[in-house]
Amino acid sequence: ISCVKEFADYGGFDATGLPSLYVTRNPAISEAETIVKEEIPTVDFALLRNGSQDERLKMIHDIKRACKEWGCFTLLNHGMPESLQTAMIEAFAEFFDLTTEEKQVYNIKNVFDSVSHGTSYSLTMTEERYWRDFLRIYLHPEFNSPAKPSGFRKISEEFGRQSREILSELLRAIWESLELEVSFMEESLELKSSNQILVGNLYPPCPQPELVLGMPPHSDPCLLSLLIQNKGFNGLQVLHNGKWVVTQIITDSLLILTGDFLEIVSNGRYKSICHRVMVSNESTRISVGTSLSPPLENIIVPAPTLVEASNSPAVFRGITFKEFVALKCQNISKSSVMDLIKK
Ligand code: SIN
Ligand code: FE2
Repeated sequence: ISCVKEFADYGGFDATGLPSLYVTRNPAISEAETIVKEEIPTVDFALLRNGSQDERLKMIHDIKRACKEWGCFTLLNHGMPESLQTAMIEAFAEFFDLTTEEKQVYNIKNVFDSVSHGTSYSLTMTEERYWRDFLRIYLHPEFNSPAKPSGFRKISEEFGRQSREILSELLRAIWESLELEVSFMEESLELKSSNQILVGNLYPPCPQPELVLGMPPHSDPCLLSLLIQNKGFNGLQVLHNGKWVVTQIITDSLLILTGDFLEIVSNGRYKSICHRVMVSNESTRISVGTSLSPPLENIIVPAPTLVEASNSPAVFRGITFKEFVALKCQNISKSSVMDLIKK
């Protein structure tokens, strides 16, 4: 399987252009009509950590609005040093710069491999190819790391620990915003042994970026995820009210996205956000995402009090992360997967 990095480095194209498998976008359909400039909501983490009672309530309110109306928000004052973010992005960049032979050790065989290197989105799902290479690592409760580059282990451990704390605290605020008992949620989802995944994405420059996608429209199979990217090209777009919105880099902020398990647990009140990735013909984009999900084998059901309170039956049946991911590997669109688990 050739990675897009190799294409980009050695120019795997002739004059006729891109291999047709990569052509997944029709430039005749005007993107301008569907892309809008809108501000993604912001949430101030300092209000949660050090705020007065009123400020804390305001933060919970902001988070509720962001989850309900958007499914994503920019997190300010999160406390993660910028140097750690840069080091994490750098460490992934160094991994992608290893030789093909060195990277091959980690070639993906299964989505549950503890460390896997691959390309495109999901090769089991479609013939189509996406302009992305990735390294995915299962980081928690069991810690894993590639052996090279040498600094990777230490940086990913620290980045993992700090991002896990931020995401867990955000989840507690989210349970509060849904009026769910925080301790009950913590226990029922076993947040302490939550499954944390770390993914580095590489999007090299593409000679015909208007024809390709870095990632197709999708939602993430997790509760909540956090994203950072290198400075330069804003490639990530989120779907909001049927229109694509370009996410901006705001210095020293983290982007938070809601995942499918949040939709399941909240019985459909907070939907997972659909997003996609564009690539550039000039700059290499690297993004790093990390997500929290329930432990692999736990059966996750909509929160009982939400089912009762809304006087509506549970929208989704119970499902484990393992089964859910297996379904996701067969279905590219968010709605088809969610429909499959509707009661
Ligand atoms: C993702 O969809 O998980 C990654 C998005 C990005 O590269 O910004
Ligand atoms: Fe994603």
